[in-house]
Amino acid sequence: MKTNILGLPVKESELIVSELNILLSNFQVYYQNLRGIHWNIRGKRFFDLHVKFEELYTDAQIKIDLIAERVLTVGGTPLHTFEDYIKNNQLVVGKNVSNDEKAVHLIVTSLSHLLKLERKILNKSGEINDEGTNSMMSDFISEQEKTIWMMQAWLEETL
Ligand SMILES: [Fe+2]
Repeated sequence: MKTNILGLPVKESELIVSELNILLSNFQVYYQNLRGIHWNIRGKRFFDLHVKFEELYTDAQIKIDLIAERVLTVGGTPLHTFEDYIKNNQLVVGKNVSNDEKAVHLIVTSLSHLLKLERKILNKSGEINDEGTNSMMSDFISEQEKTIWMMQAWLEETL
């Protein structure tokens, strides 16, 4: 089996690079969804949510950079154009969302889909002992699962 400088199988690593680029693209749409709701949110909970959405997009921005740099680390080239991001996007694009419950729903559905993409990568990186990608996906997954729990708790406020 041909391996790269990191000792990882070349062919499988290329596959992981393309999956990471798909995750990167979807994360950029998630990020932009968060910017949109940070800007457009209205109502009595504006101040809370405006700040919370900023916290989430700042976190997403850090993860976006980690994904892109992981692509480079394993020998690939990260996608960086809007054109490519839109081509690879699988998330719902939130446009002019100003209602607080709709905004939180948008976050939950976006994160839920990102989790699927991350688990797909995790399966592949696990198979080839690509621990760097593996641990990054594990961290993302547990953090996002926790955010989903919190968002769902918020949505159940009227119970
Ligand atoms: Fe702002």
